[in-house]
Amino acid sequence: MNPKRRPLIAGNWKMNHGGKTAVELASGVAKLTASFDKVDVVVCPPYTALAAVVGAVRGSRVEVGAQNVNPKPSGAYTGEISPPMLNDVGVSWVIIGHSERRQYYGETDGGVADKTRAAMEAGLRPIVCVGELLDERERGETLSVVKRQLNAFSSILADKPGFGAIAYEPVWAIGTGKNAGPAEAQEVHAMIRARLREISAALADQTRILYGGSLSPKNAKELLAAPDVDGGLIGGASLKAEDFARVAEEAQRG
Ligand code: PGA
Repeated sequence: MNPKRRPLIAGNWKMNHGGKTAVELASGVAKLTASFDKVDVVVCPPYTALAAVVGAVRGSRVEVGAQNVNPKPSGAYTGEISPPMLNDVGVSWVIIGHSERRQYYGETDGGVADKTRAAMEAGLRPIVCVGELLDERERGETLSVVKRQLNAFSSILADKPGFGAIAYEPVWAIGTGKNAGPAEAQEVHAMIRARLREISAALADQTRILYGGSLSPKNAKELLAAPDVDGGLIGGASLKAEDFARVAEEAQRG
């Protein structure tokens, strides 16, 4: 981490805790992170729990994000949720381009860019995800793949330093218990920041680049110590308030 940037710890609940247990989990996170004044904490429940979780964390440090968004404001798009709808329920963040959406729901680099633009126009703060597959890493293509994914949306950010965050999530590390090492993560984070610097120094200095992929209380300290890692996007370990708060605590310690 770098003291110039405030760390951000976000929990991606995926398709878990969409009902009554969501309020319990969110309230637990709010309670356990109440004294953490040096870190931004975001939880991203499923759509069905967004309104309840916004209510549960009201008055706390915790902010709420969605896990996806449709770029259109309204219309005949059965099953979809738009940026203004997220605004309406009090959501301030949204995860865009998660690898599970790219892999299972055909999201493309272009689609990710459209969603990022639409979310920002609606005043939402995107957490845009990038990351290579295992075979891409094995072929030595990690940096070129991530650069391609980044180039698809980075120009949208030009005059928006501090717009939100970028999450580097190596796909082989997601949900596998196999995290990238701090040096592996740092290499990619540094490349992302260098690319942002080509757009503007403010964008590079202010953008928080999160690491995601089996981030847990066990490895948070060493990963967050990497100079270009500004926080984390956490799946599995965000489903227990204690584990998630312990990662946030590492970020709070700096
Ligand atoms: P994980 O998921 O922490 O369970 O690996 C991270 C993510 O998919 O955002």
